[in-house]
Amino acid sequence: MAEFYEVLAGRRSVRRFRPDPVPEAEVREIVRWATLAPSASNRQMWKFVAVADAGVKAAMREAVERAIDELARAVPGVKGVGGMKGWSFFFADAPVVIAVFGEEYRSRTDDALKARGLAAAEIDRLRARPDLQSIGAAVQTLLLAAHAKGYGTCWMCAPVLAAREIERLLGVEERWRLVALVPLGVPAERPKSPGRKRLEEVFTYLGGPREG
Ligand SMILES: Cc1cc2nc3c(=O)[nH]c(=O)nc-3n(C[C@H](O)[C@H](O)[C@H](O)COP(=O)(O)O)c2cc1C
Repeated sequence: MAEFYEVLAGRRSVRRFRPDPVPEAEVREIVRWATLAPSASNRQMWKFVAVADAGVKAAMREAVERAIDELARAVPGVKGVGGMKGWSFFFADAPVVIAVFGEEYRSRTDDALKARGLAAAEIDRLRARPDLQSIGAAVQTLLLAAHAKGYGTCWMCAPVLAAREIERLLGVEERWRLVALVPLGVPAERPKSPGRKRLEEVFTYLGGPREG
């Protein structure tokens, strides 16, 4: 069991990778572990596309650069848009990039809330997007499975700015929406943890009568 906790504690966001290729069988196995994640109504509304092709990775990177440049031009008054580049491109230098897609999931509760006349934003407030939560669970499982095998990864949402172009490049059907990119490879760095909030800041225990 100690090993499990070591995997949890040892995973870091890796942003520099060695060029060593990752065998397809390894990628397949890591994705298989990811699919063990729980999902709302067990819908498994996720799809993973692993890209090892250098040309496709470069095209994805260019799409992200275009999307950031376009946004920066559109809102010149908003600072920091160009700075997004530092957090958005490195996936293309990893031997494999796993694009994670999600399919929208609407339950009967969603339908009932809609029929009652609630706006989409209020439905999201009361439902908290079980589809995105499910996909998040799969992404985290993927990161841990990769780390357990000695690979580095980084959960990346910044490149989703180019979602439409990446979806087109990877040829997924219209109903699949890009949720994240996960570069995968042998780490070329050992990042330090950026730290965590103290447990007291994020956890409250509402105790019942004392035991014993
Ligand atoms: C939903 C999500 C989106 C993220 N997007 C990016 C990203 O676009 N680029 C990036 O460099 N890191 C991204 N990260 C990584 C976080 O910066 C990182 O997890 C956090 O700083 C904690 O570091 P650790 O993963 O090493 O514990 C993302 C993480 C999550 C969970």
